[in-house]
Order: sequence, then structure tokens, then C-alpha cells
Amino acid sequence: RTKIAQLHADAKAFGGQTVTVAGWVKSIRDMKNFGFVTLNDGSCFADLQVVMNRDALSNYDEIAHQNVSAALICTGEVKLTPDAPQPFELTATEIVVEGVSDPSYPLQKKRATVEFLRTQQHLRPRTNLFRAVFRIRSVAAAAIHSFFQEQGFVYVNTPIITTSDCEGAGEMFRVTTLDPQNPPLTDAGEVDWSQDFFGKHASLTVSGQLNAENFAMAFGDVYTFGPTFRAENSNTTRHAAEFWMVEPEMAFADLNDYMDNAEAMLKYVLNKVMDTCPDELNMLNKFVDKGLLERLKHVASSDFARVSYTEAVKILEEAVAAGHKFDYPVSWGIDLQTEHERFLTEEHFRRPTFVTDYPAEIKAFYMRMNDDGKTVAAADCLVPGIGEIIGGSQREERLDLLEGRIKDLGMNPEQYKYYLDLRRYGSCKHAGYGLGFERLVMYLTGVGNIRDVLPHPRTVGNADF
Ligand code: 4AD
Ligand code: MG
Repeated sequence: RTKIAQLHADAKAFGGQTVTVAGWVKSIRDMKNFGFVTLNDGSCFADLQVVMNRDALSNYDEIAHQNVSAALICTGEVKLTPDAPQPFELTATEIVVEGVSDPSYPLQKKRATVEFLRTQQHLRPRTNLFRAVFRIRSVAAAAIHSFFQEQGFVYVNTPIITTSDCEGAGEMFRVTTLDPQNPPLTDAGEVDWSQDFFGKHASLTVSGQLNAENFAMAFGDVYTFGPTFRAENSNTTRHAAEFWMVEPEMAFADLNDYMDNAEAMLKYVLNKVMDTCPDELNMLNKFVDKGLLERLKHVASSDFARVSYTEAVKILEEAVAAGHKFDYPVSWGIDLQTEHERFLTEEHFRRPTFVTDYPAEIKAFYMRMNDDGKTVAAADCLVPGIGEIIGGSQREERLDLLEGRIKDLGMNPEQYKYYLDLRRYGSCKHAGYGLGFERLVMYLTGVGNIRDVLPHPRTVGNADF
């Protein structure tokens, strides 16, 4: 069996040969004595034009009456057509109907909206838009692995089930073997967690970072790339309950090392996608985001901006003084809102921007305290159109400061015993970051809603298929 991608890659080599291709019908045109089937097999963005002649095909009428999305197996001769819009076509000698498509097939020729397609989750990968998005997603994932593997990072799988809340935001999905309707109770009338499988109330992980730090203290440079879960009840275009995160962690590295690595990684992935997916990007550039190609090229070849949180707040305050309106007031100490992030990266710097050294109060417990005693060595990477795509920091490697911070935040030091131990036995300066993979795919495709870069999105009220 030949893939359509193979034909497009080297049509000349196939000229005159007989091949068999299997795929799904995009359209059928019947001109009575001859007709055309446009077939796509998913192996590449481009389609295959199959020509059928009544004389040569005993089941011509059966094929001519097939509906969009029927599964066909087509055998025929590859004919080079240098003068036609498509460089070759397949002249069919046999077409077998593998699976008919009911006339109720909901995605007919007319361009459907992404909102409608979300109601057809099982069929949307057969559309041009989603074929483009999900191939780019796959290429970007592979590029991330090759970037880190080429640099000798060790890929470590971190657990999905855990009892620690890495980000301390309490946004966890609970996991338990106890019956929620009728849990066993202690004599004091409380839920008896000792009868749970884990003996505690566990959760789905919000981040693999603490486990990645563990392995960085043995392998030096490591990364995780896996699903993470957040029960944020925020119905936005950038938040999903289940999303994938890439989390590199580097020993003997500081905040600048993290930013250098992240910038190089993003450019590597951008270049890989531009090299591998030109058809997909052209389609997205035409129908989804007219500035996409130009932006990706520009980003791949220019330096990211770097600005401290304190400077960033000044820039925002100056914008307010000059008449710019934000919904959320700006002052030192606030957690930057999406509107602020987008102003910085879209209006002010006009390129990806790292904001560094945030107030300790608005950041997680593990971030390294700066000498000013107020800010931590954190950095978020913001990009135009989306806002934050990466959050990261240098980690607090000093045992006394880390213990102090855990206690100040009312967290249980017992729970972080292993994590604290890493500061006892050969602690070292280290840094890492988390890239929201879906946000990167949104950036690479120009798609504006996280639901449309997730194969089967898990958002509020949505977990059926
Ligand atoms: O900024 P966050 O919360 O950082 C961490 O979890 C760190 N432990 C990472 C690390 O240093 N190893 O999340 C990291 C990134 C965000 O910048 C964002 O891109 C993405 O994860 N993200 C989400 N993506 C989709 N849906 C959500 N609900 C997300 N929450 C965070
Ligand atoms: Mg963050």
C-alpha cells in the first residue's frame, strides 16, 4: 500500500506505476462517463486526485454515489500531469468501498466554524484545519524531544498521581479509592484516609517539577514531557483541565541559563515546524492567522526581550499615564493579568518577552529568594497573541531558606521531606521551567482557543470522548 505522502514526495519515481492507496473521500464529481474522487489518507496535507472512467471501472456507479468521508481503497496507474494544477493523478483500475459514509455526515463541503467542529470532536480531525493543527502538534512534540536529546538531557517520566501540590494553588483533581457517597469514618466522625489505597488523599499532578528536580540532582540535565492537570474553574481560551507540560530542569544553572535554554528551544521547534510543515502553515496562514508565517520567521531570527517585573510595572504605569486603559489596576505587587502580559509583549516589546524577578508573594514556594528579600529569581515567557507560555525559576537550593518559606506559607514540612533532603546531600544551584505545550501549539498555528489544539479537550463540563 502506498501513502499519498510518498507520491507527493517523489511523484516522478511513481510515474507509470500501479499503486494502491487507501483513504477517505473529500469530494466526488461525477461527469457521467468519467469522474474524480479527491482522497486524503492523512499521511500529508495534500490530497490525491483519482480519475475514474466508466469503461474501466465495473462498479463506476457505486463509487460515483459514495458520500463524503467514505473509506475507499483505490488501485490505479500514477499519471504525471505536468500541465495540470496537480502534478499527478491516479487513473483507477479498481476501487473498493471499505466503509460507506452515511449521508448524514455532518461536515459537508461548506467551511464549518471551529465552534461547530467542537461538537463533532470525533470527525474534526478529517478537516483541513485539524489535519494541519495536529500534524504540527506531532512535529513540535518530536522537535522538543530531539532538542533536549541532542543536548544530552535525560527524559524522565514523573508520576501522574501524587500527594504534593507543587504550585500550592490547591487546584487539584482528587484521586481516591474511597466511596465518595459513603466513605469510611473514624471514631471522631472524619473520613478515614488510612483505608484509602494510598493511605492519604492523593491528586493528579499539577506539575512534574519536584520529581524532575530530584533527577536533575543525579543526571544534571533532565526533562519531563507529560500530562498535567488543573482544576482551575476558569473557562478561558487558554486554560484546559488536562494539558501537556515540558519541564526541563538543569543542575548548576541559574535564571539566565534557563532563559537561554528556553529561547533556543523555542527557536529550534519553530524552525523544525517551518521546515517540516510548509503546506500546513500555508493553509493556517491563509485561513486562520494572516500574519502567522511572517511572525514565525521573525521570532526564529530575533532575540527575545528580557525585562524585570519592576521595570515591566513601570512600563505599564507609564502606559496608564499616557491614557491606556486596563481593566485591572496596575501597581507593584499585582499578579500580571493577561491584558498586562499582552500589552508588554504585543504593544511594547512586540516580540517574545521574559519578565523576571517577580514579588515572592505571588510566586510558588520553591523559587529562589533574591538578595533584596522581596523578589524571587523567577521568569515567565510571554508571547504576542497568547501571553504566558512558560513559567520557570531558579530554585531555592538553601535548606534554611526553603524550610523557612515552607513554614511561612503554612505548608507541612513532613510532606516535603524528600524534597528538603535534596538540599541536605549535595545541594546545588539549579533552575528549570515549564512550557505549556498547548500554548506553544496555539502560537505555532495561530489558533486562538486551546480547545482546538487538544485532540480531545478536557475543559469545564467536557470529558465524554
Ligand atoms: O506557570 P506554571 O504554573 O509553572 C509550573 O507549573 C512550574 N512547576 C513549571 C516548572 O518550573 N517546572 O505552568 C507552566 C506553564 C504555563 O506557563 C502555561 O503555559 C501552562 O503551563 N499552563 C497551562 N496550560 C493550559 N491550561 C492550564 N490550565 C495551564 N496552566 C498552566
Ligand atoms: Mg505561571
